[in-house]
Amino acid sequence: MLRYALVFSVGLAGLCLAASSDPSNGWNSNLSWQTPAALQAMDLSHNTKPIMYLFNQPWCGACKRLKETFQQEGDKISKLSQKFILVNVGGDDNSGFGEAFAPDGGYIPRILFAEPSGTLRPDLKNPANQKEYAYFYDSMDKVRAGMKNALKLLGSQGKAETSEQPAAASATSQTKPEVSEL
Ligand SMILES: *[C@@H]1O[C@H](CO)[C@@H](O)[C@H](O)[C@H]1NC(C)=O
Repeated sequence: MLRYALVFSVGLAGLCLAASSDPSNGWNSNLSWQTPAALQAMDLSHNTKPIMYLFNQPWCGACKRLKETFQQEGDKISKLSQKFILVNVGGDDNSGFGEAFAPDGGYIPRILFAEPSGTLRPDLKNPANQKEYAYFYDSMDKVRAGMKNALKLLGSQGKAETSEQPAAASATSQTKPEVSEL
């Protein structure tokens, strides 16, 4: 009986390792993505890095487009991203987050920032897109501007960053996010 239990738990551990081998979910494995479970296991009491949550699903078209942008232009944020804890919230992990993480709707993709302590900061919106779908981003430059803005307000090293004007909102081809059913 005991032997059976041991074999069973080893099997489960193997599954967990396999599942977390690429926490990037295809959003550029050069970036230091964490799973929500890994974040939960962290002791944030001495953490100095703001947290960036990226909510996405594999079946969502706007997510696929942004994912492609991350794959191709991820180097634009690779240095900046080292000053953050990046959390990739995809698939079933989405259901583990409450309404606080959907301040203006449960659409995807959306990006939220939290203080190093873990306190969510819904006031940190897309600098180029504050009115509706304020956590939706459709370009790497806008993601970068949002991260810079967050770092300026939340990061211990924020003062070392040169401030940069947020990318101007493109009045034309704004991609509408898809509303998720979460
Ligand atoms: C990751 O970094 C390596 C080395 O700089 C580069 O060759 C590769 O294209 C990068 N991968 C992505 C997905 O950006």
